[in-house]
Amino acid sequence: MTAPKKLHIKTYGCQMNVYDSERMAETLTAGRDGPAYEMTDRPEEADLILLNTCHIREKAAEKVYSDLGRLRPLRDANPDLKIGVAGCVAQAEGAEIMARQPMVDLVVGPQTYHRLPAMMQKVAAGEKALDTDMPEEDKFDHLPRLRTPTARPTAFLTVQEGCDKFCAFCVVPYTRGAEVSRPVDRLLSEARDLVARGVAEITLLGQNVNGYHGTGPDGRVWSLADLIWALDGIDGLERIRFTTSHPNDMTDDLIEAHGTCAKLMPYLHLPVQSGSDRILKAMNRKHTAAEYVAIIDRLRAVRPDMALSGDFIVGFPGETEADFEATMDLVRRVHYAAAYSFRYSARPGTPAAEKEDVPLAVAVDRLHRLQALITEQQHATQAAMVGRETTVLFEKAGRKPGQLIGKSEYLQAVHADASVDLLGVVAKVRIIEAKTNSLEAVLI
Ligand code: SAH
Ligand code: SF4
Ligand code: F3S
Repeated sequence: MTAPKKLHIKTYGCQMNVYDSERMAETLTAGRDGPAYEMTDRPEEADLILLNTCHIREKAAEKVYSDLGRLRPLRDANPDLKIGVAGCVAQAEGAEIMARQPMVDLVVGPQTYHRLPAMMQKVAAGEKALDTDMPEEDKFDHLPRLRTPTARPTAFLTVQEGCDKFCAFCVVPYTRGAEVSRPVDRLLSEARDLVARGVAEITLLGQNVNGYHGTGPDGRVWSLADLIWALDGIDGLERIRFTTSHPNDMTDDLIEAHGTCAKLMPYLHLPVQSGSDRILKAMNRKHTAAEYVAIIDRLRAVRPDMALSGDFIVGFPGETEADFEATMDLVRRVHYAAAYSFRYSARPGTPAAEKEDVPLAVAVDRLHRLQALITEQQHATQAAMVGRETTVLFEKAGRKPGQLIGKSEYLQAVHADASVDLLGVVAKVRIIEAKTNSLEAVLI
């Protein structure tokens, strides 16, 4: 018998890519229409290496090419090694990838990776394979129904994909296609299956997850809040999170669920990008800074301990010092537990790419100022946890013996001395010390 072929996947970008990488691994390890691969963490022993890529900023996309270059010695050592590019760079650049890096055997977009086994047959025969269709059929109907058991008690579940919002700077509507919501019964059965395998926390994923509008078992269109309430009924599922949301889809029922659904964690990632109405308009965000702040206020009214995170872009074309100050004001007003800020990166094919960039030095300086403010708020949020009681879902062993690491309700990393029996369990703790990126706690 020949040894099973080995597959190594490297994942870039957002959580949806993390989910997709797991699903690609599942199709290829299932051995339908081809050899059953075994997973490996070591690229040097792989027969197939897949890079699941991100196109969101220029740096992310260029990293793929430098990483491909670094695979050259592996290919020289093993001419049978096959190399594939999946994900959003694959979708955006297609055959160009093979032209630029002829070592690449396979290019597959985010909507067609259920066809990977068939594509691998072509590749095994020495041909190149390329598939960046946006097919009518639902890839999820063609993937293994059961998920591979994970070692962790947390799991991602993609409920919605794609984006119809077309923010002026963003490639996602082009790389992921139109908004599609998966049907409720499929999601509930995937969730039940995950819980049966020891998952206690599910994070619902979507590029616009709160725009979810899937067909329910009753034939009606269900909102994200409807879906959350159905998940709330699954015994053994302890925690529900969702990401990433758009302010314009923050519906009343979803805000209300934050006040009434005990399993829904008091943490929300709600990107706003800018605090300037002029820039928000140029970005095609279709909401104002005040509307965004009003949503935050309503969330905090129903759930006072709500922790917020956001995304910001600085140096969007035309951003003045006053526009940037409006962003700083918004950050001061909201007070974030965490936030991600990026220097604007012009992306080919997006409307904003036609406009003139803010000078580099100006954008870099603004980014530093914004990041300093965000870090200050993050520290304050961590420090305010000291002395408080919260719950932690323990996920893995800590670095020190006898210690476990998990996440608080507010998505903060927490470590505590606890027996391994508590892995996968939600335990009550008191926070005794705050560090920059983690909290120390004792069990109560
Ligand atoms: N769907 C989500 C997130 C999309 S991408 C949303 O609507 O918020 C994640 C983040 O990357 C965005 O929130 C934005 O802050 C950042 N981003 C997207 N395109 C960018 C670009 N061209 N330059 C810099 N940052 C960008
Ligand atoms: Fe991109 Fe805007 Fe869609 Fe988010 S809402 S994925 S930023 S186009
Ligand atoms: Fe990147 Fe695609 Fe996600 S561009 S952020 S991997 S949707």
